[in-house]
Amino acid sequence: MNLFGRKSAEPTPASRAAPVIVVGNEKGGCGKSTTAMHLIVGLMDLGHRVASIDLDIRQASLSRYVANRQAYANALGRDVGMPVHYSGVEVTGEDDPGGETVRATERLQFLIDGARVNHDVLVIDTPGSDSPLSRVAHGAANLLVTPVNDSFVDLDVLGHIDARKKQVLGPSHYSEMVLEKRLNQSQDNSAPMEWFVVRNRIGTLDSHNARDVDWALSKLASAIKFRVLPGFSERVIFRELFLVGLTILDLKEASGGKPLSASHLAAREEVRGLVSAIVERVTVPTS
Ligand SMILES: Nc1ncnc2c1ncn2[C@@H]1O[C@H](COP(=O)(O)OP(=O)(O)OP(=O)(O)O)[C@@H](O)[C@H]1O
Ligand SMILES: [Mg+2]
Repeated sequence: MNLFGRKSAEPTPASRAAPVIVVGNEKGGCGKSTTAMHLIVGLMDLGHRVASIDLDIRQASLSRYVANRQAYANALGRDVGMPVHYSGVEVTGEDDPGGETVRATERLQFLIDGARVNHDVLVIDTPGSDSPLSRVAHGAANLLVTPVNDSFVDLDVLGHIDARKKQVLGPSHYSEMVLEKRLNQSQDNSAPMEWFVVRNRIGTLDSHNARDVDWALSKLASAIKFRVLPGFSERVIFRELFLVGLTILDLKEASGGKPLSASHLAAREEVRGLVSAIVERVTVPTS
């Protein structure tokens, strides 16, 4: 069984709510919106009906990406797959732009519940800071995807490490919030969310730093209980198609059928690899 509770991309039966994938990390700029965009397109590419919610009300990167994609499709008369997308402002309303009120959190829960009925999967992008809406989203997650860069600054947002003693000292505020949400889910008799930490902007050189990060990530993975997945290398292609709302998976479309370069093929495999690992819940060794 996969994340969708079945073997292929058949539509979700009305009786079964679609899974919720939350892309989250309180570290800003680690690649959440980039990962969300690629997951959405990758899931659509497999034939799934995808809904998406952008909870980053200030930057709204995911909403802008979806709008760019729609504009590209309209301008060229091309049929590129589109998610059913909701921007954060639709949740907060004009009266509460920060989404701080109970009313906003209730609206979000209502939107999540509704989106789960009519789609195969819901992907939620969250801001790089704690917020009431982000907490609601984490509480609704079946799967949390956390991108991290190969840096101890990024890892510290997951858990604190004593590099000299080679020990994990404890979870970060963000991890504590995730652990609390998991506990609540278990107490509500639902399956606690799975947590995949995905490496992003991986460098091509095997540096001393990369090996230290490997070690630290595997320690954190067993202490905080997440799985580490290989994600995306540092590649221009992961950012240069934003303005046209495309991804490497749409590139044939954008390049008029020209063959893909070796680097583009590698990028496409990285996206497909991540999407299928997430869908099939491949067990990736963490140590
Ligand atoms: N694998 C990658 N290769 C090249 N550039 C990348 C990659 N991943 C992300 N970027 C770039 O890094 C920057 C930050 O990425 P992104 O906006 O996805 O992060 P974020 O976690 O959503 O940020 P925020 O916390 O501000 O919402 C962007 O300029 C994006 O294009
Ligand atoms: Mg973002």
